[in-house]
Amino acid sequence: MNILSPSILSADFWHLGEDICCVEQEKVPWLHVDVMDGIFVPSISFGMPVLKCVRKQTDLFLDVHLMIDRPERYVKEFADSGADLINFHIEATDQVKETIAAIRALGKKVGITIKPKTPVEELAPYLDLVDLVLVMTVEPGFGGQKLIPECIDKVREVRRMLDERGLDIDLEVDGGINIDNVQVALEAGANVIVAGSAVFKDDIGANVRAFLEKL
Ligand code: DX5
Ligand code: ZN
Repeated sequence: MNILSPSILSADFWHLGEDICCVEQEKVPWLHVDVMDGIFVPSISFGMPVLKCVRKQTDLFLDVHLMIDRPERYVKEFADSGADLINFHIEATDQVKETIAAIRALGKKVGITIKPKTPVEELAPYLDLVDLVLVMTVEPGFGGQKLIPECIDKVREVRRMLDERGLDIDLEVDGGINIDNVQVALEAGANVIVAGSAVFKDDIGANVRAFLEKL
């Protein structure tokens, strides 16, 4: 199943609830929640209190993307704040397996993420332990960047690795995805599409409908 996961990083935070309602009305199943700590990535976004507020008001599947150093320190807090899936960067910790196990023990789905320069081979030891792999298609840290075309080749490679192992897990792409290039990501084997600035601008409902037609 192909899934759109709109990233609220590009929402208008003054109207966050209304913006989320717009995507919910279009029957989008997931919402992507970008958490940045100013250390693992240069920018700082938001954290547990915002997630808690969103959780209270929506039944959407909350796909939390932790762009934070040593995520193992915070997985419990994000689980308690309402994440359905906790995605962390394998570059951010030397305790990847332990962090996967900790998220599972909290009853949440687990995703692992790689930055554009991280070789896909580094995912290999963990593929049969996770529910989702996220391949970044921009350097993490900011919305509204341009997709790095070489990252699409990495999506293709990860899909091949999953197929070779007979693993039917989600493959997510994040960064610079818009209505004109989403097809390329899908063809490469992604089935979860994150889109921030291409969704949360102008007519949000119309943007979502345009994406859903392509999925
Ligand atoms: C970037 C974030 C993305 C971002 C995507 O570090 O992980 O989720 O919000 O935004 P767009 O779709 O505008 O590239
Ligand atoms: Zn993200």
